[in-house]
Amino acid sequence: MKQDGTKISMVTAYDYTTASIVESAGIDMILVGDSLGMTMMGYEDTLPVTMDDMIHHTRCVTRGAKNTFVVGDMPFLSYQASVEEAVHNAGRFMKEGRAQAVKLEGGARVCPQIKAITEASIPVCAHLGLTPQSVNAFGGFKVQGKNEKTARQLIEDARAIEAAGAFMVVLECVPARLAALISENLSIPTIGIGAGSGCDGQVLVCQDLLGMTPGGFKPKFVRRFAELGEAMKNAFRSYDEEVKSGAFPAQEHTFRIDDALMDTLEKTYKNRRE
Ligand code: KIV
Repeated sequence: MKQDGTKISMVTAYDYTTASIVESAGIDMILVGDSLGMTMMGYEDTLPVTMDDMIHHTRCVTRGAKNTFVVGDMPFLSYQASVEEAVHNAGRFMKEGRAQAVKLEGGARVCPQIKAITEASIPVCAHLGLTPQSVNAFGGFKVQGKNEKTARQLIEDARAIEAAGAFMVVLECVPARLAALISENLSIPTIGIGAGSGCDGQVLVCQDLLGMTPGGFKPKFVRRFAELGEAMKNAFRSYDEEVKSGAFPAQEHTFRIDDALMDTLEKTYKNRRE
């Protein structure tokens, strides 16, 4: 697709139902992001997410999207400590999660892991720029690569992960011109989030795209393509009102029984409580 100049669409999904809807919409790739720590589990950041959490959600997604390329996100401390652990955990995404690839955060410092996982025949997507697992080292969720030193570092990291065997790279919160330059410099596709239209594709977190974020927080780089949070709230309110008023369930939502049988049962059991 990069060679053709066809942009690649990717979205996060964490469950069976959403994954099957995403697939039916024709999205090119699904990311089971460790952002599920925030969107599905209510943590403040992605750091508490475990391998078991990720495998569980990846399995749900791959059951729902059998014909879509699914990337499983390696959670914090599942690949940083050693190359062996990284290969073992990446393998779990394949064997148990049934994903087609894994994603991990970092540049040159994780190249040994990228090389070893790739050599185990597991495609690896890298992730550069604002890598949320490093939020404490960055001192917050901030745009990366804005000065010469950090911009050059990003370009070098992008080259290093490509040389190590990564098949794709996510660029998160990187200035648009820098992301475009990196995209031109690489033969592998770049997938941007907050990195402008010069990337080879785009990824958004499903809840951001659908307008389902509690408190309504919207990062600068997000466009809401629907207001499903509002639609869901209205639907739940209507349900609550109709349950309380008795309007739901109506006749058409109920099951019938033979009237003669009911007459017999009522003769025996009606008012037995008195
Ligand atoms: O975890 C995630 O959803 C991600 C995307 C924001 C790229 O890494």
